[in-house]
Amino acid sequence: MDMLEFICSRRSTRKYRPEMPERDKIEAVLEAGRYAPSGGNNQTTHLIVLTDRDILTALADVVKEEFSKMEVTPGMYASMAGAIRASKTEFYHFHYDAPVLILTANRSDYGNNIADCSCVLENMMLMANALDLGSCWINQLKWLNENDAVTAFLRPLGLEEGERVYGAVALGYADRPDGLPDRTPLPRKGNPVTWH
Ligand SMILES: Cc1cc2nc3c(=O)[nH]c(=O)nc-3n(C[C@H](O)[C@H](O)[C@H](O)COP(=O)(O)O)c2cc1C
Repeated sequence: MDMLEFICSRRSTRKYRPEMPERDKIEAVLEAGRYAPSGGNNQTTHLIVLTDRDILTALADVVKEEFSKMEVTPGMYASMAGAIRASKTEFYHFHYDAPVLILTANRSDYGNNIADCSCVLENMMLMANALDLGSCWINQLKWLNENDAVTAFLRPLGLEEGERVYGAVALGYADRPDGLPDRTPLPRKGNPVTWH
C-alpha cells in the first residue's frame, strides 16, 4: 500500500473480537505513539495501557455512572450530549469491549496537551492499521477528565497528580470474518482546502 492509500484506509472499528492482540503488536503501536511529534519536543504524553478485562469493565461502569448523573445543557457539544443520553440507557458504549484501551494523559498546565495527545493517538491508529488491528478514538475520558470518581479510579492505574486524560484509543482485532478492520475510505465532504 502506498502511504496515502494507507492513511485513507484507516477507519474506526467499533466491534472487536475478545482475543488479545499479540504483545509485540501492542508494543509497536505504543512505540509509534511515543515517536509522535510534541510541542517544543516536550514528550510529556503519558500512555496508560489497560489490558485487564475486569479493569476495563469497571472503568466502563464508572464512566457510564458518571455520565448518567449529568444533564444535557443547551449548547453542549453534540457528542457529549449523545454520550450523556446514551448512558441513561442500555445502549451505552464506552470502549466497545475492545481488549485493549490506551489512554493518553498529559499535564493539565501544558498548553499543547491536547495537540500532543492527538498526534500520539493518530500515530497509534495508523500503526494499528499497518498491523491489521482495528482501532477507535474514545473521547469520553477527556470529557470526564475533571470528574472526581474517574480521577480516583485512574490514579492507582498510573495517572499522575497534575495529569489529565485527553484521549484514548481502543485496539483489537475487528469482529469480522477475516478479523481485519473495514478499510473502505470514507468520502471527504469537509476539510476544505484553500490554495493561494
Ligand atoms: C477527537 C475525536 C474524538 C472521537 N471520539 C470518538 C468516541 O468517543 N467514540 C467513537 O466511537 N468514535 C470517536 N471518534 C471517531 C470518529 O467518530 C471517526 O473518526 C469519524 O466518524 C470518521 O470515521 P473513520 O474514523 O472510520 O474514518 C473520535 C474521533 C476524533 C478525531
